[in-house]
Amino acid sequence: MIDQIYTPNNIAQELVNLALSSNDQSPLYIADFACGDGALLNAARQILGDRPNYLANDIDSHSLEKIDWCREQYCDDFTNYDRSFNHRFRKIDLILLNPPFSYKSSTGIAFNNRQGYSTKCSPAMSFILNAIDFLSINGQVVGIFPDSVLWSERDRSAREHILHLGYEFTTHRHLPSNTFPGYTVSTSIISLKRSESTHSNHNTDDYSENIVVDRGKLQVHKSLGITSKSSKSPLFIHTTHLKSNQISHAGAYRVSSNKIIGPPYVLLPRVGNPNKEKITIVRRGKYVLSDCLIYVKTNDFELEDIQSTLMQKIDLIYGGSCAKYTTIARVRKILRINLGNDQRGNAP
Ligand SMILES: C[S@@+](CC[C@H](N)C(=O)[O-])C[C@H]1O[C@@H](n2cnc3c(N)ncnc32)[C@H](O)[C@@H]1O
Repeated sequence: MIDQIYTPNNIAQELVNLALSSNDQSPLYIADFACGDGALLNAARQILGDRPNYLANDIDSHSLEKIDWCREQYCDDFTNYDRSFNHRFRKIDLILLNPPFSYKSSTGIAFNNRQGYSTKCSPAMSFILNAIDFLSINGQVVGIFPDSVLWSERDRSAREHILHLGYEFTTHRHLPSNTFPGYTVSTSIISLKRSESTHSNHNTDDYSENIVVDRGKLQVHKSLGITSKSSKSPLFIHTTHLKSNQISHAGAYRVSSNKIIGPPYVLLPRVGNPNKEKITIVRRGKYVLSDCLIYVKTNDFELEDIQSTLMQKIDLIYGGSCAKYTTIARVRKILRINLGNDQRGNAP
């Protein structure tokens, strides 16, 4: 299963334009897990420039040399779950694919995921199944796939599984049979995206089980009584220190307190006018947080997804007719964290 048949530039451009036209937001993270010499990533870069982060993987290291502009490169068998990059990624907004179609074994490719689903399917379908594990909530896969992924008996179980997860397949254009010279497979540009109705069913299954939403532990007036001159004491961080999606140490003081919240987490103000620039990812540093801040503590690779959801829904997060404020319960609701009987984090 190598299939080094590359996408012509005009089709690569068409595919990327289709992907962009069906999303309101410009993708921040784009990947091709079978990138070859980079036809699809090059097309995305021609249109979007260097603003997004690009990520390239191919089983063949030589082809990767042709896209040396792409800084995040991996050389893994994407159908093998033990990929070196599994937990290094943030979630991906746009996955471009023209995967291999050829069979190594007549029984198909085995797929197993961490939720316990397993099947055997075509190589192209196995790329789809593996890819959706990396998608952000609003993310999509757009690629050139054999039409058989939509109807073959071999891919039926995988198709049903994908539909059950809430994704919809859309066929955008059937490609002429001479698109890939020497190959007779009937192909189309197909996309996969979560349907609108499943966005509202988004729940804890999408995030790690250990996600915690809680408030900072120190009130501002109390922090003023325990300031410390020792450089070993933690900095006290308040809403005013969140600037341009980063923690600014300017004006921050140290406190004698062990109420440190260890990273990684996403911070947002509990009170104040909605401001996307204050929704901040914290990956390092030991801070004592003001109780005017709410933090969402989770796995490193879920942080961007949570930050982007909070930014998109910022107008729903803050309520109140005079001073705007939010609560732990509302943040949980926005993130669709269904706690059931398990009360993770404190009450609002
Ligand atoms: C049909 S080409 C498409 C390349 C590129 N995406 C394009 O559109 O031009 C398929 C690519 O998949 C790579 N490939 C084959 N098997 C793979 C695997 N198991 N994991 C990752 N890449 C693989 C091949 O080396 C080849 O570059």
